[in-house]
Amino acid sequence: MTCDCYFVVLVYSMKTILTGVKPTGVPHVGNFFGAIKPAINLGANFLFIADYHALTTVKDAELMKTLTRDLACSYLACGLNPSKTVFYRQSDVPQIFELFTILQNTTTKGLLNRAHAFKAHGQEETVNMGLFNYPMLMSADILAFNTTHVPVGQDQKQHIEIAQSIARAFNAVYGETLVVPSPLIEKDVATIPGLDGRKMSKSYNNQIPLFAAPGELKKTIMRITTDSSLPAEPKPTEHVLFQLYSLFAKKDETAKMKKRFQTGVGWGEVKTALFEVANRELTPMREKFDYYQQNYHLVEKILADGAKNAQIQATKTLDLVKKAVGICP
Ligand code: ADP
Ligand code: TRP
Repeated sequence: MTCDCYFVVLVYSMKTILTGVKPTGVPHVGNFFGAIKPAINLGANFLFIADYHALTTVKDAELMKTLTRDLACSYLACGLNPSKTVFYRQSDVPQIFELFTILQNTTTKGLLNRAHAFKAHGQEETVNMGLFNYPMLMSADILAFNTTHVPVGQDQKQHIEIAQSIARAFNAVYGETLVVPSPLIEKDVATIPGLDGRKMSKSYNNQIPLFAAPGELKKTIMRITTDSSLPAEPKPTEHVLFQLYSLFAKKDETAKMKKRFQTGVGWGEVKTALFEVANRELTPMREKFDYYQQNYHLVEKILADGAKNAQIQATKTLDLVKKAVGICP
């Protein structure tokens, strides 16, 4: 193989990983283990705050600003490295919205009619266009960066399939221009249970906030539902207290706790132990979160640099797309 061939193989085997997160709530422990930590560990090339997507549900300007700010600080506090990952706000990259406008003309209404998010709303008369067009905007987010892989939860799989169809439909009319992305769904990202044992979710109000002060963290953990079994009785390791303990504790600590569950341990004692390991792991993150909140100009700078970089990348794709459709600068 000549050097050129090596180069071609290298280019074609290169992954571009991108994912987005909506600023729709204060991050909780379920978000951290289910979405934030995996995205950071994957070393995504692009990670962005999908603020225009959040407009479908957040209708209060002050809340929108606070949630966006909290989310930006959260990712940085949880270890996102802006020198490895381009971190930006969707709204700062106008090329995405230009691409969205172009894609409307090769995307059929029938395709979007099938989207779960829109269908779940039920009523055609009252559904807003933001919700209807949600998957098309998401496609523009993805296609603008020649993304090859999109790490998402199972619930977002259909959106990525729509992005594939939208890219293929465009390519069918104008020739191979857009990269067709694949979803990256980690099968064993567990569903983190909440205070009542159901999936931790802000919709169930059973969440443990990620950056709660120690006093509030303790109070929240003390509210976890238990049964009336006596301390001497064995306890099931499927219980939310054991599940959460094992997420925060070290391996040997988890092994010891497992034995205690098998031989008998008081729920109060387990709650105190959970608070201790959770507080130990969350304290440095909380301190970083507070630091970024108090020095938000640093976050603004990171997001501004990210926006610049993202704009440069997205412009490359947009120029190709404009050329393909005959709208040239
Ligand atoms: P919520 O259910 O609290 O509204 P979101 O729907 O805003 O949370 O989820 C944001 C991200 O966090 C998504 O990628 C979702 O898959 C992940 N996530 C949310 N809750 C959990 C959980 N309990 N376990 C694992 N991942 C979760
Ligand atoms: N719809 C995604 C969610 O609700 C957020 C999102 C918007 C996204 N644009 C994206 C995710 C592009 C991946 C790629 O979680």
